[in-house]
Amino acid sequence: MAEHRFTFGLWTVGNPGRDPFGGPTRAEVDPVDSVHKLAELGAWGVSLHDDDLIPMGSSAAETEKIVTRFKGALEETGLGVGMATTNLFGHPAFKDGAFTSNDRGVRRAAIGKAARFIDIAADLNAEVYVFWGGREGTEVGVAKDPRDALERYREAINVLSQYVIDQGYNLRFAMEPKPNEPRGDIFLPTVGHALHFIETLDHPEMVGVNPEFAHETMAGLSFHHAIGHALWADKLFHIDLNSQRIGRYDQDFRFGAEDLKESFLLVRLLERAGYSGPLHFDAHSYRNENAAGVWDFAAGCMATYRALAEKAAHFDSLPEVQEALAGASQPELAESSAGGDTAETLKGEAEWSHLDQLAERGYYNEKLDQILVEVLLGVR
Ligand code: GCO
Ligand code: MN
Ligand code: MN
Repeated sequence: MAEHRFTFGLWTVGNPGRDPFGGPTRAEVDPVDSVHKLAELGAWGVSLHDDDLIPMGSSAAETEKIVTRFKGALEETGLGVGMATTNLFGHPAFKDGAFTSNDRGVRRAAIGKAARFIDIAADLNAEVYVFWGGREGTEVGVAKDPRDALERYREAINVLSQYVIDQGYNLRFAMEPKPNEPRGDIFLPTVGHALHFIETLDHPEMVGVNPEFAHETMAGLSFHHAIGHALWADKLFHIDLNSQRIGRYDQDFRFGAEDLKESFLLVRLLERAGYSGPLHFDAHSYRNENAAGVWDFAAGCMATYRALAEKAAHFDSLPEVQEALAGASQPELAESSAGGDTAETLKGEAEWSHLDQLAERGYYNEKLDQILVEVLLGVR
């Protein structure tokens, strides 16, 4: 099994426990301390927003000093940068959106803010540059024509990808979908929407997706199906791992804290597909934890992923699983349906008697799922 490249956002382990109803419950963490602590815990790298590292309003000289100190910590520990991204949601100017604000001045400033950090991301050797459009949406639908908003979103990504090409940076983009929160409705709400959007871009080859477990779950969708779709499209450039219950606020819990079965299906899929990009935990510790609890949280995310990868390998090694998969005709789904025949020929297979005969069989799903549950429970 390839070495897992686990990464954590500076904003995840640095999350001070603020929520809409209350202030911080723990102190902010110095990014350099996070780098050292994560290295100690066995992470591969970190990810960051511009504002996580460089406080807004920093002068050019201050920025240089901060970046040099941060690079020093990366060099010292050997940690890499999985992804970098722009905070286009925190500043009050972005209250109506960033790339899709109705105000053209805001849109231009948003593209500029992203371009500024793309320079630093390239300097930090970040693999991927993420676009999460937290403010790109509406509460009042009548205030924006969604067609115009999408066109402006597309324009921003086109302008920025041209910038990366012109600068000769080795950086790929990844769009991160989310259905809502902080906006009532966000543009590019699911992986499917994002995959289509990418195909409309000037440089679709350099743009993929960064699906987040919590976000597809908030939309009531299967996360591993979303990942299957992204892999099938060859667009899984990055992934945000965490956990979430359907119907709740954006929880961003420790990976595996909720829905172990979906987490198992996800890890099994990633392992089987040989996904080799960063495995990024975009989650944070419960608000009632102190500083020590944050590191329990970080260690827990990685331990659960590794344990699920082991469980997945164990599951597939069991003869009874192979038998049940055969009983379910699971391998047959990989075979061509028509097999060279035409629809004209297949018309002959559509008689009622034939369908009645096909309806007789079972698909072994009860057996298969029960084995999976027993593997997860550790009794098999
Ligand atoms: C969320 C988002 C964010 C983004 C991050 C990158 O929880 O709503 O996942 O955490 O991933 O801000 O821009
Ligand atoms: Mn995320
Ligand atoms: Mn989230």
